[in-house]
Amino acid sequence: MSDYITIAMPKGRIFKDAVDLLFQAGYSLPPEVEDSRKLIIDVEKEKFRMILAKPMDVPTYVEHGVADLGIAGKDVMLEEERDIYELLDLKISDCYLAVAGLPNTKMDDVTPKIATKYPNMAATYFREQGEQVEIIKLNGSIELAPIIGLSDRIVDIVSTGRTLKENGLIEYERIVNITSRLIVNPVSYRMQDHRISDMVERLNQVINKERFMES
Ligand code: PRP
Repeated sequence: MSDYITIAMPKGRIFKDAVDLLFQAGYSLPPEVEDSRKLIIDVEKEKFRMILAKPMDVPTYVEHGVADLGIAGKDVMLEEERDIYELLDLKISDCYLAVAGLPNTKMDDVTPKIATKYPNMAATYFREQGEQVEIIKLNGSIELAPIIGLSDRIVDIVSTGRTLKENGLIEYERIVNITSRLIVNPVSYRMQDHRISDMVERLNQVINKERFMES
């Protein structure tokens, strides 16, 4: 197995975009890849192995070297600050981090409460704004928090905007735009396995082609 390269893939929102990109780059992935409960998928033909992780954990697998490469949202990288290198902006799964809440509400409390999956980024953002806040860390369904009175605002990902809209919330401030990135373990990168550079080249071709078609 040692001649396999291992790539940590994020389960959930980004997974389909990431798999599509690999298909477009010419990788022969087994068709069941998009519809499987397996957490490890060996792609014998390409000599690579995918591990399917929670998005927030992808940089951890890569930092510890159990995955050579990973696909992770920029949000996760900014939040986790792991010792990894970013190789490519894959330009997939665009979204942004925003402050949101119920309409017509002010952050009147001395220390307003902010619910989020991103405590580090939220704390940095409000510190930079000179606002003192209390961060409440949640692991999902963040939009619930202001509706049921757990927080005054949320800091969360907005993609299509549907979740905010369907739950009667509005966006107050946009913090940062986010796309997914190809990340690499520094040692794997130094070893410069030719398949890593080959993958970067193939993905780059797809990304540049799409950019060319958009312009
Ligand atoms: C993310 C985010 C929002 C939603 C935004 O949640 O936390 O809830 O997507 O997408 P939209 O703007 O297209 O509606 P995710 O699906 O990752 O699940 P989570 O609730 O477990 O965080």
